[in-house]
Formats: sequence, structure tokens, C-alpha cells
Amino acid sequence: MIKYNEKSRTFYLGNEYVSYIFKILENEQLGQLYYGKAIKDSKNFDHLFESEPRPMTVCTFDGDMKFSLEYIKQEYPSYGTGDMRHPAIDILQENGSRIIDFKYQSHEIIKGKPELKDLPATYVEHDDEAETLSVSLYDDLIDAKLILTYTIFKDRPVITRNAYIENCGDTEFRLNRAMSLSLDLPDKDYDMIELTGAWSRERHIKSRKLEHGIQSIYSLRGISSANFNPFIALKRYDCNENSGEVLGFSFVYSGNFLAQVEVDTYDISRVSMGIHPHNFSWKLRKGESFQTPEVVMVYSDKGLNGMSQTFHKLYQSRLARGKFRDEARPILVNNWEGTYFDFDEEKILSMAKQSKELGVELFVLDDGWFGVRNDDTSGLGDWYPNLDKLPNGISGLSKKVTEMGIKFGLWIEPEMVNKDSELYRKHPEWTLETPNRKSSHGRHQHVLDFSNPDVIDYIYKMISKVIRESDISYIKWDMNRSLSEVYSNVHDSESQGKVMHKYVLGVYRLYEMLINEFPDILFESCSSGGSRFDPGMLYYAPQCWTSDDTDAIERLKIQYGTSLVYPLSSIGAHVSAIPNAQVFRNVPIETRANVACFGTFGYELDVNKLSEEDKKVIVEQIKFMKDNRKLLQFGTFYRLKSPFEGNETVWMVVSEDKDKAIVGYYKTLQKVNCPYNRVKLQGLDPEKKYEVSINDYEAYGDELMNVGMITTDRSSGEQKDINKAEGDYSSRLYILTAK
Ligand code: DGJ
Repeated sequence: MIKYNEKSRTFYLGNEYVSYIFKILENEQLGQLYYGKAIKDSKNFDHLFESEPRPMTVCTFDGDMKFSLEYIKQEYPSYGTGDMRHPAIDILQENGSRIIDFKYQSHEIIKGKPELKDLPATYVEHDDEAETLSVSLYDDLIDAKLILTYTIFKDRPVITRNAYIENCGDTEFRLNRAMSLSLDLPDKDYDMIELTGAWSRERHIKSRKLEHGIQSIYSLRGISSANFNPFIALKRYDCNENSGEVLGFSFVYSGNFLAQVEVDTYDISRVSMGIHPHNFSWKLRKGESFQTPEVVMVYSDKGLNGMSQTFHKLYQSRLARGKFRDEARPILVNNWEGTYFDFDEEKILSMAKQSKELGVELFVLDDGWFGVRNDDTSGLGDWYPNLDKLPNGISGLSKKVTEMGIKFGLWIEPEMVNKDSELYRKHPEWTLETPNRKSSHGRHQHVLDFSNPDVIDYIYKMISKVIRESDISYIKWDMNRSLSEVYSNVHDSESQGKVMHKYVLGVYRLYEMLINEFPDILFESCSSGGSRFDPGMLYYAPQCWTSDDTDAIERLKIQYGTSLVYPLSSIGAHVSAIPNAQVFRNVPIETRANVACFGTFGYELDVNKLSEEDKKVIVEQIKFMKDNRKLLQFGTFYRLKSPFEGNETVWMVVSEDKDKAIVGYYKTLQKVNCPYNRVKLQGLDPEKKYEVSINDYEAYGDELMNVGMITTDRSSGEQKDINKAEGDYSSRLYILTAK
């Protein structure tokens, strides 16, 4: 998979799907030659290295007008020696210079994929699943080492990258920018896709044509954010969901990030992805080093669905970890939208009892069980039960719940503190705040200094004690604000530029401590819904609360966008009460479940307030989910019709053996006397004959994929009983079973 040609000094990474080729240039730096669909290794690709003399360029070699870094495609460029674009790396030296020159020193090719110390990353279970190339470069003047690491997976169109910088000399320097990936592509004929939004409308799909200049998305919030997800894709103009070329870039990190495409006026597109350089500054003394997080690059010539399926399979099986990685997820009830802070033991027990009767497997107690926490102004940081509400504590409550035959889960928000709390009164110095400046709150809460290991140890002790003393099977780890006035009093003035990243490392460390001590607990990450839905989190928590917006119609867009990168086994999706708490919409309970079942399924309501009729429906929904969740959460997912483009949304999952498929068909508004309608399905076996539910007919896979499945709306103003599949916000689940 990885070869080095000594003569042409070329590195070739390739498998059956993808090739990545670069070489050692005349200046001993690395030049990019090709990234894309698999091509044979012709050992020498020097003809792909283009450099013509051009006026006004800065040239490297005396007397030579050709070799200019201004337009040479590079692997890890720097600024100031001819390249006028934004660099991958910036090092401020003691004498004030920023000029660097990392020259090839050596390389190593190994089987497998080494772990990244203290950072989340994709992994292999056997060394023959991947090969890794590490290229070492060295700057003699500042005695600094740079190692660029590339892994190619054997059976996937996936290449990962990261960078490592070490100070090997006596003089310290400051690393002000260290991208995980820089990739120069030879043209700009792409649309850039991003996932953008805000609280409650996370990960909506936006697309824009690449133009000269910079197009970028980023986070400066300390979390990956609801506003932009750490992901971009570059798709060719003719690429759609099912065909055409697309390159996907996903950053395995949960804090500040930059994802940028800079197109120069020679039409070269430079993709950069990494920790955002703003507020990042890392002083490296002798022997000290910095490791960047990982970027995962996916190549697809099978459209966006092809790209997403590669991400899904990789992230589900080689990023997520632990006992629940491959397991169908428990069906849960969460009390948040049902009670908010207004509950006591009696209420929770009766909700748990009713949940059990409906067939639910896990009852989750959300915010409000600890300290003095009757609203969101107090209590965060005091991780011991509120005995006024819960006289038997979490220990007693959890045991009573589990004795009913239903599992118990708990909400925490470990990174935060309210000023009105015992923790803050004892340790006011433990929040992130800038000396002598007012510090802003978010939802009345302040951010604990997770760059300080003492804070983490203290929080760990409190939380692990509650877990240890109780019967807990699930933890929802929430995080409800962006970081501001970031300054840590345990770091000197020179090191404040490290705090943002050290905070994220602290979050990872606490996760690691908890999942190591409690391997049987299922963790779900959350950040005011989906403000930290990123690959970094998936390494610790295999599922994530997707959005506080539980309205099924809104969720079509949110889940459709989220599915661009993240597997359905990670997408937390619940049925909530109507009118919906966020948009006040009344969506039928069938559609609420038909949307939520394409994710980790549950209910977010007070089960004691359900009508008898709804209870009957829910019992059936839960039975259906138990029978089909393995397929729904781990099958191959296809997006068929986008909610961003029209009144209908369609998506489907297909089992690995292609014997079963479920098509979700959703209609926002009812139209009258509608045209005839078909949807072309994907991923079926053309040779197999399928029974199609609802339509009550049988058809071969080739017909369903090429002619389409009939979805004609039968309403012409006349009410008929067709499975409640007519009317505003209606939906249908078509079940396809091979005969
Ligand atoms: C925000 C989360 O997204 C909600 O699900 C809920 O847990 C609240 N926080 C509790 O404060």
C-alpha cells in the first residue's frame, strides 16, 4: 500500500480505491503530486510536477527562474520563502524570525496505525488493516523536527494525516500554527460543502462554489460548535448523492478548529484543517513537542452517499470504542422535556414504572438531581444528590428503578460550575477567567479550568463516587456554553496560548478516566443538543444527543445533515410531546417515531401524561424498534431526497446481506390531487425479489432501483385509511423483505 521509490524520491500510497502521491523536491521539502481515484504506481510521477517561470515570483535557487514555492503544490508549506499563501505551520523564533526550512531527513513505513498520545483517533484492530508512513523533516537552523504521518487503510478509501513538531535544540521557539492537514489540489472546480447552523438547527447542509480567495469555516468557541462542524467536502459540480467525485475532510477534535480552502490565482486549491491558530501559541523548550490531532480524508467516486458510508463504517467501527460500539442501543426515556427541573423521587419512579410497561429499556434522569438545582442558576459543580428531591439519593433511586427491570441512566455536566454552588464557594480560582476582568456567564454558568489536572481529579472523584454507589448503565455528558475570557491561573503568562487546547485535552482525560473505570456504561455526549457533535467525542461516547430541537420536521434537516459524516448509531433521536417544545408544531406520533427510529431511539416526554391511545402506539413502536434497530443503526444508509430541496424527504437503510431494507418517506405539507410519484431506491440486490409493504407488491431490486418504488400520494381530497400516511407532516416506513 505504501511504497517509496528511491530513484524518483516519490512516496506512493494506494489501495484499490484511492491514491496519494508526493515527492521530495529539489529543495528537500515535500511536494504534492496527486490525490484522488486509485491509479497504478508508475514509480516516477515527476511529469506531474509543474513549474513554469512566471514574472513576479520569488524563486528558490540562484539563476533558476522556475522553482518557485509560490505555485508549487506542497505537503506542509510555510510562509516567507516564496509561498504567498497561508501556511501549514508558523514558528516564531527567539530572534523574531518566522522563516523555517524543514528538509527531508528520513522516513519509516510500518504496518498498522500507531495511537496518538492523549488524543482521539481512528485505529486498527489488526496491523494488516492499514499501513503508516512517517516522514521526518528537520530544520537545522532552529534544530526542530517535523514528522508528517500518513495512514492508509487497506479496505477503505481513507487516508489520515497528522503532524508532530519537536524542539531538539537549546533555543526555545513558539509554535503559532500547526495544521493537521495541508493539501494542494491542482484546480478549483469544486463546490465546498459545510455543515452549519446554530443551537437547535445544527448541521444544515450548505454548498458554495470555490472561488479565488479564502472560503473557511471555524470555531473559536472552545467546542467544535453547532455553528460549523469540523468537516468540509469538496465535490465536483456533477457529483450528486449517488455518483460523482467528492473529497471529504473530517477533523477528529472537539475544540477550536479551522477548515479552509484557499484558491490562488493559478487556480490551485489549498485545503487546510487543524486547530484554529487564533488564541493558539505553544512555546516549545528543548525536548518538548506538540502533536496535532488527526484529519480523516475520504475519497468517493460514488457521490455523497459513498463518502458518508465510508465515514459511517469507519467511525462506527474504528473510531468509536468500547462495549457498545457494535451493539444495538437501548431504547430510553429521558425526563428532561417531560419534567424539566420539577421532579421528585415519586414522580421519577412512576415515570420509570410506566416506561417499563411500555417496553422501554433505560430510564434517564436528566438535569436537576444534584446540589441545590431547581433551575439553571445554581448547583452545577456539586455532584452529590439533592436529598430534598431524592431522599434515597441516586444510589437508592437507581436501585429502585433497576429492580423494576429497567436500566437507569444519569445526566452530568462536569465542565461547569454555577457561582451559586459549594464548589465555587470553595474553589473560586478554578474557573477560566481573565485577571481583573469581568467574566461573562452562559446560562448563568462558568467554565471550570479543565487545563488544570487538579480540577479534573476533583470532579472525577465526585462523579465516580455517585456512579460507584449506584446502579448506572448510561451517562449523558452535557456542556452548555461556549468558552470566554479564557485564562488559566495555573499557567504562566507565556503559556496562556495553550489553555484552549489543554482544556480539550482535559475533557478527553476525564472521559478516558470514566470510561476506563466504568466500561459497562454507555456514554452519550451532548452540548446544548449538538454543539459538540464531532469525531473527537465519538472516540469516547459512541452516541451524541443530536439537537435540542426534537420536532420531527426540523429533525429531518438536522439528521439528514448529520448523516453526511456521522453513523446512525451515533445520532441521538427521540420522540417528544406535542405541541413541540421548540417550534410548537403538532406532528403525528407516527412521524415523530418514523424520524427518530433512524438513530438511537427513545422518548423525551412525561410518559404519565400519554393518552391510552398513544401508549398503544408506543408499545408497537418499541416492538418495531427492537426488531429492527440493528438494521436501522448499523445498516448501509442512503439519502434519497433532501429536505433542503423540497416538500419530501426520503432516506433508507439496507442490511449487509441486502435481504431487508427500510425506506423512510416524509412529507412536510399535504398537497391536493398530487402527481404520480416514484423514488429510485439504492443498495438493493438487483437479482432479489422484494415484498414491499404498504404498496403490497413484489418487485426485483433492479426495478426498485431503476424504475423506482411507487410513492404516489393517494389523496385527492378524499380521506382514506392508508396507514396515516396522508396529511401534513405524515410519513411512511416501507419495509422491503427479500423473498
Ligand atoms: C441541554 C441538553 O441538550 C438537554 O437535553 C438537557 O439535558 C438540558 N441541557 C439540561 O440542562
